[in-house]
Amino acid sequence: MAELGYLIAGNWKMNGLSGDAKALAAAVAAGAGAAPAGVDLLICPPAAHLALAGDAIAGTAVRLGGQDCHEAAGGAFTGDISAEMLKDLGCSHVIVGHSERRDGHAEGDALVWRKASAALRAGLIPIVCVGETEQERLSGKAEETVARQVRASVPDGADGTCLAVAYEPVWAIGSGRTPTNDEIAAVHKAMRAALVGLLGDAKGASVKLLYGGSVKPGNAKEILAIHNVNGALVGGASLKAADFLGIAAAAGA
Ligand code: PGA
Repeated sequence: MAELGYLIAGNWKMNGLSGDAKALAAAVAAGAGAAPAGVDLLICPPAAHLALAGDAIAGTAVRLGGQDCHEAAGGAFTGDISAEMLKDLGCSHVIVGHSERRDGHAEGDALVWRKASAALRAGLIPIVCVGETEQERLSGKAEETVARQVRASVPDGADGTCLAVAYEPVWAIGSGRTPTNDEIAAVHKAMRAALVGLLGDAKGASVKLLYGGSVKPGNAKEILAIHNVNGALVGGASLKAADFLGIAAAAGA
């Protein structure tokens, strides 16, 4: 699926103060020109730093994304941020359904579907995250779990111009462990099939499928070469500009 190009997305999670975010965004922006053709770079800073990170990447090809959004456009929702607010801040993407939201905030597929729909409503590209737990992997249910999450979390009618899906095995996030290449290939194949079933052949084939979970410069090349892997969602390694840019360089290698 190299014809889809690659999206390399950095999920900064809840890390860094404003000075750190400004420096990191500026360093990514400074190196972005060296990214291979067809490789898009996206940074997803904490909401508190979106505006200053947006300023630091202004005029470059680096894109800005949120880490979560509320399903409503506005209202009495203390502490939340709407997709429309993210769009207004210059975001092009928003991560929804990350396992740290699904687990830590009890978000299920139905809510993730509504958040992804809110992103589409606001003109943002949702990156819908799915992934099995270690128990589901050990009991041979990884593909089945992920396909079910795709069917229940992805709004129908979307296509690759307005949607991305990320496979993030819960046990691989922040652990330094990754599935084998064959395991990644099998899950991405199941995700592709689920998307084709939901959206139809052409639309289902047009959606970028990202892999996330302990992606580093040292393993990026082989992971990004796997069939149906069209990018990476990077956590820890996205906090160092050199590592993040190294992953992007691997996408074109
Ligand atoms: P990690 O996180 O790269 O630190 O494993 C990935 C993610 O949670 O998006």
